[in-house]
Amino acid sequence: MFCSLSILVSLLLGACLLGKAVAYNSDDEVLNYKEILQDVNYTDVSYAQSPSGESVETLGFLFETMDASVRVSSPINEQSLWLENVVNYRNIPGVFPDGMDYFFDGLATLTKFEFKDGKFTMFTQNYHSRAFDDWEKCVFFGTGTGPTRPTDETSREVCFKNPLVMMLPINGKLWLTIDTRSWGLVDMNSLDTLNGNVAAPGMTLNAHPACDRLMDKCFVQYPCPTDKRHILNGEVCIGEVREEAKGDHYILHVDERSRQSLDRKKLVQHSHSPCVTPNYVVAKLDEFEAISPKNNKSGLLKFLHQGEVNEWMVMDRRDNSSRILQSTHSFVNNHFWNCYETADGINVQTVAVTSDYLDMFFKEKLVLNEVPDWKKGFMSTLECTVPFTGDEVTCSELTDAVFDYPTFNPYYKMNPSYQYFYAVGPRDVETSTFFDSLMKFNGKTGEIAAEWHRDNIFLTEANFIPRGDESGAEDDGVLFTIAYNSEENMSYAYLFDAATLDLVDSYCLETMVPFHAHGIICKEGTCFSNP
Ligand SMILES: *[C@@H]1O[C@H](CO)[C@@H](O)[C@H](O)[C@H]1NC(C)=O
Ligand SMILES: *[C@@H]1O[C@H](CO)[C@@H](O)[C@H](O)[C@H]1NC(C)=O
Ligand SMILES: *[C@@H]1O[C@H](CO)[C@@H](O)[C@H](O)[C@H]1NC(C)=O
Repeated sequence: MFCSLSILVSLLLGACLLGKAVAYNSDDEVLNYKEILQDVNYTDVSYAQSPSGESVETLGFLFETMDASVRVSSPINEQSLWLENVVNYRNIPGVFPDGMDYFFDGLATLTKFEFKDGKFTMFTQNYHSRAFDDWEKCVFFGTGTGPTRPTDETSREVCFKNPLVMMLPINGKLWLTIDTRSWGLVDMNSLDTLNGNVAAPGMTLNAHPACDRLMDKCFVQYPCPTDKRHILNGEVCIGEVREEAKGDHYILHVDERSRQSLDRKKLVQHSHSPCVTPNYVVAKLDEFEAISPKNNKSGLLKFLHQGEVNEWMVMDRRDNSSRILQSTHSFVNNHFWNCYETADGINVQTVAVTSDYLDMFFKEKLVLNEVPDWKKGFMSTLECTVPFTGDEVTCSELTDAVFDYPTFNPYYKMNPSYQYFYAVGPRDVETSTFFDSLMKFNGKTGEIAAEWHRDNIFLTEANFIPRGDESGAEDDGVLFTIAYNSEENMSYAYLFDAATLDLVDSYCLETMVPFHAHGIICKEGTCFSNP
């Protein structure tokens, strides 16, 4: 999902609504909004109202602030002793101030789950953004929130940095990612907030950079205008990230490797989840479309939605050459996962979603005991072939099962013989009120090979922990996920056998852990990016 686009909204407000120029100060993450905000109408009422006007109640792990002080430490159960030295990190929308009624605007909170010295532990820290530290002074403008009215009436400080989507592990630190260039940085051990900035030429970047672990390279796709303020842009690039340490300040540079000019400009071009194979980088060129402002929505989604488009950019890693292609299907790419090369081209599987997908996470769409309109947000999952030459990507339906947050054995990344992927989804689109099923899929046919669900249990992304090394069987390992029991209002770490999806171990987390999208696994010091 495209979360916390506040920087973009502010630019849009400046550029589209008020017709004023936006000035930057020397720090390229901080905009001078003061001038713009003089004219902005603040949101000071909650928009999360049911049609009858009553305020909305949601599942207990949605829109609730997490108690970050809870620490867990319990002996590792015998069947999981082999997980010694495995760590799972999760980036959680963990803080919901009053009036924040869009789920993926919750303020970034990091939790570390660790199997160490015979103990399973949980440790949480809030990411110290200005929005977290100084909320009462903040004018917050997110994907579906704001602009909020600061309680400190004298303040006009706009707070937009909230990197709550993913984590990119580099040199003992985690870059906290989002689809804008406003990433954050924390120490991998202490989870302390560090001083880090991304130096990207445009305003967007990928929440899921495409990493080749063996080559120690991570690729990104981004709009590459000459002027950062341009929100309409026809130049698109693929580059590589490179971290630079300057004392206690870290800069993540984006080095351009290939550039293309499109025959039309895209509004806020972005690519949530590009992928990599040994010889290629593949990105879908997604964008936003303006809509007539909706009074029952706040934030960016009041003015924009994601466009269902069909352009792609593909780069050959051997010579940096690139192509623009069009696919037979138009959609929004929520997630590519395990791309690989075959004799016919690059196989790309994608969780395809619609222009309405992001709207699913407004509070008023997540009413307790109501079934969301799953099929309005999700299209069928697609399997596409990117040819080695030419400009047409052919897609067909892989499955019509609704799911998201696909994962797989990280040792099988880019491997054409890969057979399985795992994902969470609604057990039944007619009855499920949220993600309540874990599924194992045959990656070649799209058939469901195994499934787990239990009444009143809701699930977050499952992360694959391989039991052995590269030589192990593909489904020899466990899936680690954070489950929420809605009857008990309590969260658990659950471990499933990746072959059978039997629940093999569980640990009570002694508190409610909010729903969240993504996590990463580190094993014996090696971290796997996700995907
Ligand atoms: C806003 O109003 C429209 C039209 O009444 C409705 O379809 C939609 O569900 C409402 N809420 C949101 C968040 O879009
Ligand atoms: C591709 O780009 C990288 C980074 O700019 C450069 O180091 C490399 O030499 C280029 N490769 C070719 C074949 O041009
Ligand atoms: C659920 O538990 C959390 C703490 O773990 C608490 O903050 C929240 O109020 C509880 N919700 C309900 C509905 O009891």
